[in-house]
Amino acid sequence: MKREITKAVFPVAGMGSRFLPATKASPKEMLPVVDKPLIQYAVEEAVAAGMTEMIFVTGRNKRAIEDHFDKAAELEAALEERGNQKLLATVRGILPPGVHCVFIRQPETLGLGHAVLCARPLVGDEPFAVILADDLIDARPSVMTQMVERYSYYRRSVIGVQNVARDDTDQYGIVRCGSALNDVHQIDGIVEKPKPAEAPSTLGVVGRYILSPRIFDHLANARPGKGGEIQLTDAIASLLTQEQVLAYQFHGTRYDCGSKIGYLKATIAFAMSHPDVSEEFIEHLRGVAASLPASEHDRAAA
Ligand code: UTP
Repeated sequence: MKREITKAVFPVAGMGSRFLPATKASPKEMLPVVDKPLIQYAVEEAVAAGMTEMIFVTGRNKRAIEDHFDKAAELEAALEERGNQKLLATVRGILPPGVHCVFIRQPETLGLGHAVLCARPLVGDEPFAVILADDLIDARPSVMTQMVERYSYYRRSVIGVQNVARDDTDQYGIVRCGSALNDVHQIDGIVEKPKPAEAPSTLGVVGRYILSPRIFDHLANARPGKGGEIQLTDAIASLLTQEQVLAYQFHGTRYDCGSKIGYLKATIAFAMSHPDVSEEFIEHLRGVAASLPASEHDRAAA
């Protein structure tokens, strides 16, 4: 495959039903973790990996995301008048110079694969990244930076994976791997949400992909799969008949912010290292921990 990766696709058209009513009028990707919406963490990750064109596949309620990345002249003027340089820099720095946003609509929520296919006219014939903002990953360097490095070396599609509990395989795309070199595995097969007993491994796909543009042909031919949706996993399985795809076991901690418990865990982890609040927050957590009733485990050990 050719060229460096400059385009990142962010599918943000999902229903976010697990977060209703918070997601009734605003996409779940606008949920904040401490003081930044999930989508901003995702864009920062793409920018850190050298990408310059951010492609958002939006559904209903797209306004909030467009507005977030748009210039806010009135807000900036008000902050300037108040002399609040710190906040002014924060607001102006949401999108660094040279980075552009484009928006395209997914007319119906027909699945993640369909959302990626909607980006085809904007991506064209070049490899590109896909980032699911609700998978928030705390990593240094960022996971996309790690993946671009692997892509630059192998020149193949690279999919981010992590080991998941066997009981949870039915929540992930699961890969079957061939040969491996350290953290990079050649993929032999991939299945969407297999039952634990049928899963070919416990390596689950999380929301980070670098894909060959050939994926679009496979998406265009894909039939509805699990849940009646056009699945990206099925198109990757089909792409495997044409070219190699690699699974990359990334280094970092991933929070599934599409679920309430994952979102709460992310909020605690990010607040504990946020310069504005960490000290006071950790002190607060100590108090909370001290007042917790003993767990089953503690009772059994006593
Ligand atoms: P999810 O599987 O998390 O679905 O989508 P969801 O609809 O957003 O959330 P729940 O399950 O109803 O709570 C994974 C990613 O794919 C996007 C979502 O926005 C999310 O980033 N997506 C999903 C689309 O853009 N379009 C779709 O048709 C489906």
